[in-house]
Amino acid sequence: EFSWKLADHPKLPKGKILAMVVLDGWGEAHANQYNCISVADTPIMDSLKNVLILLFSVFSLMFAGAPEKWRLVRAHGKAVGLPTEDDMGNSEVGHNALGAGRIYAQGAKLVDFALASGKIYDGEGFNYIKESFEGGTLHLIGLLSDGGVHSRLDQLLLLLKGASERGAKRIRVHILTDGRDVLDGSSVGFVETLENDLSKLRENGVDAQIASGGGRMYVTMDRYENDWEVVKRGWDAQVLGEAPHKFKSALEAVKKLREAPQANDQYLPPFVIVDDSGKAVGPIFDGDAVVTLNFRADRMVMAAKAFEYEDFDKFNRVRVPKIRYAGMLQYDGELKLPSQYLVSPPEIERTSGEYLVHNGVRTFACSETVKFGHVTFFWNGNRSGYFNPEMEEYVEIPSDSGITFNVKPKMKALEIAEKARDAILSRKFEQVRVNLPNSDMVGHTGDIEATVVACKAADEAVKIILDAIEQVGGIYVVTADHGNAEDMVKRNKKGDPALDKSGNIQILTSHTLEPVPIAIGGPGLLPGVRYRKDVPDGGLANVAATVMNLHGFEAPSDYETTLIEVVD
Ligand code: 3PG
Ligand code: CO
Repeated sequence: EFSWKLADHPKLPKGKILAMVVLDGWGEAHANQYNCISVADTPIMDSLKNVLILLFSVFSLMFAGAPEKWRLVRAHGKAVGLPTEDDMGNSEVGHNALGAGRIYAQGAKLVDFALASGKIYDGEGFNYIKESFEGGTLHLIGLLSDGGVHSRLDQLLLLLKGASERGAKRIRVHILTDGRDVLDGSSVGFVETLENDLSKLRENGVDAQIASGGGRMYVTMDRYENDWEVVKRGWDAQVLGEAPHKFKSALEAVKKLREAPQANDQYLPPFVIVDDSGKAVGPIFDGDAVVTLNFRADRMVMAAKAFEYEDFDKFNRVRVPKIRYAGMLQYDGELKLPSQYLVSPPEIERTSGEYLVHNGVRTFACSETVKFGHVTFFWNGNRSGYFNPEMEEYVEIPSDSGITFNVKPKMKALEIAEKARDAILSRKFEQVRVNLPNSDMVGHTGDIEATVVACKAADEAVKIILDAIEQVGGIYVVTADHGNAEDMVKRNKKGDPALDKSGNIQILTSHTLEPVPIAIGGPGLLPGVRYRKDVPDGGLANVAATVMNLHGFEAPSDYETTLIEVVD
């Protein structure tokens, strides 16, 4: 019979205050000029790492058996449920693994399976949108790249083919250019690939074309309600067929819009494609079907609400067509949003957060808006809200909106740290969990100088939290969800910067394949705690059991094994 009750850990005490710090986009790589973490002044993170090196190299004999504080864990590819070892980590799968303690086949993989087996076409979601194929248009809206974080171009191409073979006669694709999970400028090539497939469909009698577009950070893909204007720009272009820029083709659009000074794929302004008479080719009308192609939830939930909700007051939709709408996945299981979807999401259940709350661990979680859902929604297995509001408090610090974060690279790190400090010192919570966004959010801008400032700011925030833990005799766990700021340049197979056609280095705005550090310590940690030697391939999913141990509990038997042991 199932029970939420966790067994007592045989050696580790309960009731210690534990700070769980996730540095977003903080991987480990050798020091060099493109490693913003090594370039930045980060004395606190350095000290967490050097304790080990000092103890074991200089004083190894004297300190034999002293607690190891620092190691690396895997944060990409199969370790976090992604299809291949070439898939970089990301915050969704990283926080899912950290919080759930098990490795789930993630959206990218589930969609691959569903397309390869053809099961996607047998599902309720596809059959629902298919009812529009006779009289209406099929609209596909999503991120156009092979980044594999939110969506994948090859999945779009398969779906286009599959839908047209199953009766879709008129198809419009609404693209969002990337440049964040892939190199800036790669949008042009992705549009060419898509155009090529669309022209093949046209040869086969399907009226298929790109209808609108815009950069992902400026059009449609906002998250956690940071800025509804972003979603409105998408609605206007996709649904109403209205945008400040009009072009005859998407290739022309992307090429022209990229010519503006400072222009980049992430922030291209919205555009619509028009016919010879200047009329938009693909607004959305009554009777049409709409599919949002992204499998990842955070940046599609807001658009999904605009498409699905009758009552909606976030912006004026002007015209609300009666459509059949489906997501590639269901984006929020708690809200059942959207109600129709092509592929069932991973069923992440019995997360560590839910267990701990059932076992008396009072929890505080905090980040700023752009990462708030990471330490709550993703951490809790893509679930919104509290498990038990009496036991939990989640605090969101409003992010700056309407700027790129290289302009303010310190972001809200200090405010997050102060909230965490206050929560620790209040002694009202046994777990105080934060996400510090700087190294990731600024890393994604590709601005190296600003990213160095960002890493320093995150390090200062860690200090504030660790100082509070020191005061209350607590324990800290400092880790990260995936790499980003530790490598800001595209590299060739040898690991040297890869040059483009003009001989220039290419700035890497995306995440990386690097492992991330985990450091455990604090005055509340029993001296006998050390890393086990038999989990060399440990990954983010091993952290949940580790944290449960540090709260004084054994982890459930189906969790990935703990990273620590206690020697007497
Ligand atoms: C984003 O959505 O900003 C990027 O695609 C991925 O970043 P994250 O996984 O760190 O949120
Ligand atoms: Co990121």
